[in-house]
Amino acid sequence: MQVTLAGITLANPIIAASGTFGYGIEFEEIVSLEALGAFVTKGISLQPMEGNRAPRLIQTAAGMLNAIGLQNVGVEDFIATKLSALKKYPRANVIVNVFGYTVGDYVAVVERLNQAEGIAAYELNVSCPNVHAGGMAFGSDCGSLEYLVGRVKAISKRPLIVKLSPNVTSIAQMAQISESSGADAVSLVNTFMAMSIDVETRQPRLTNITGGLSGPAIKPIALRMVYETARAVKIPILGMGGIITPEDAVEFLLAGATAVQVGTASYADPRATERLVKGLESWCRGHHIESVTSLTKALEIPKP
Ligand SMILES: Cc1cc2nc3c(=O)[nH]c(=O)nc-3n(C[C@H](O)[C@H](O)[C@H](O)COP(=O)(O)O)c2cc1C
Repeated sequence: MQVTLAGITLANPIIAASGTFGYGIEFEEIVSLEALGAFVTKGISLQPMEGNRAPRLIQTAAGMLNAIGLQNVGVEDFIATKLSALKKYPRANVIVNVFGYTVGDYVAVVERLNQAEGIAAYELNVSCPNVHAGGMAFGSDCGSLEYLVGRVKAISKRPLIVKLSPNVTSIAQMAQISESSGADAVSLVNTFMAMSIDVETRQPRLTNITGGLSGPAIKPIALRMVYETARAVKIPILGMGGIITPEDAVEFLLAGATAVQVGTASYADPRATERLVKGLESWCRGHHIESVTSLTKALEIPKP
């Protein structure tokens, strides 16, 4: 079940996705943190952020819509209280998701995290649809993305994963720009910009008006994006979008992902990530797969 990506060895390819697994430590009594391939923390910014006003999370058909607005404790408190509490799990791979409003913010957060111990890699969130500056603005503009990734890579002491937005014309092109600017891996996809309206009040259901759609509703689109990206870059891909079952994870691996992330599934079942580790292992055993790495990019396209 072991996979290697961006120089990190993971016991298996199942990773808890950012924003759906707290800072990891909140899940310690629910999930065996060291049993997962890794987990990604909530996006960390330089200063603490309160996020958007409620309602900021609603259920939709086959998924959910969120506009959390990157609520987080800020980098100092994260290091002092969350990361330090994770020290008792030395075999857990902690990937820190980083967010900023400006290039300087991203650089400052990574410089501060560089001084801390117990981090396996950084995941740069250039794809949040729920804040009004930064975030997706970087992930949807070629020049800004190139500059940001280059600047962070230059100072990063750890592998750099760039998390891409699906709200672009060509996600494969954004992955290529990330690769040529120094990214060690790309993760995709973040949520799709979407909205919901209450017809009785005629008002948007989210205070933020729009939000990001996640869950099974987005899986086929996310899968297509991973497939296209896998043909455009050589760096590893962390695929995600609506993964619930082991077969969903296998689909993403076949499309070209080296590992997968699991987000919304943890809202329906907080043990979803650990269940998927066991489920994928027994799927591989049942299909006589000796190494899970053999599934990556093993999609077979029938000849016409
Ligand atoms: C409530 C919520 C909060 C999220 N917060 C973040 C975040 O802070 N940083 C980030 O990069 N992605 C964030 N995401 C996106 C997820 O990590 C993931 O990319 C997306 O939900 C698609 O995967 P899924 O369908 O398995 O949930 C968030 C998603 C949800 C549902």
